[in-house]
Amino acid sequence: MKKVLVLHGPNLNLLGTRERSVYGEQTLDDINREIRALGEHLNVEVECYQSNVEGDLINRIHDAVGRVAAVVINPGALTHYSYALRDAIAAVEIPVVEVHLSNVYAREEFRHTSVLAPVCAGQISGLGVMSYLLGLRAAVALAERK
Ligand code: DQA
Repeated sequence: MKKVLVLHGPNLNLLGTRERSVYGEQTLDDINREIRALGEHLNVEVECYQSNVEGDLINRIHDAVGRVAAVVINPGALTHYSYALRDAIAAVEIPVVEVHLSNVYAREEFRHTSVLAPVCAGQISGLGVMSYLLGLRAAVALAERK
């Protein structure tokens, strides 16, 4: 069975209490439950991991080589400035889908730039938990094409 790695970046562990008007009421556990349920439906194994540490996310991407068919990542604020995460994504030949709960283009100027988008297969932004679910569907489709 193919495996998809779902990575959540900094501060996403606080979902449910963090800026609820922006990110909604669902906790990260609620979101992971929906992701895993869709994974079962799509017949893929889903591994979910959250970290507030840039290097941990980079290590997970390195460890995914040869083990994981595709990655879905919500990089949090690392989206906007992490060249190290960008280089990690560029270094592995695994399709990566970037997702955001909020519509980053409707928010502060600094959120309008993703330094990761050019090395990701695509980006989904602004659809709440649906961004992750569509991201998972895209990741599975990309993995099947390989
Ligand atoms: C986010 C958007 C980022 O700008 C922000 O730093 C986050 C969450 C989102 O899911 O909307 O932490 O990635």
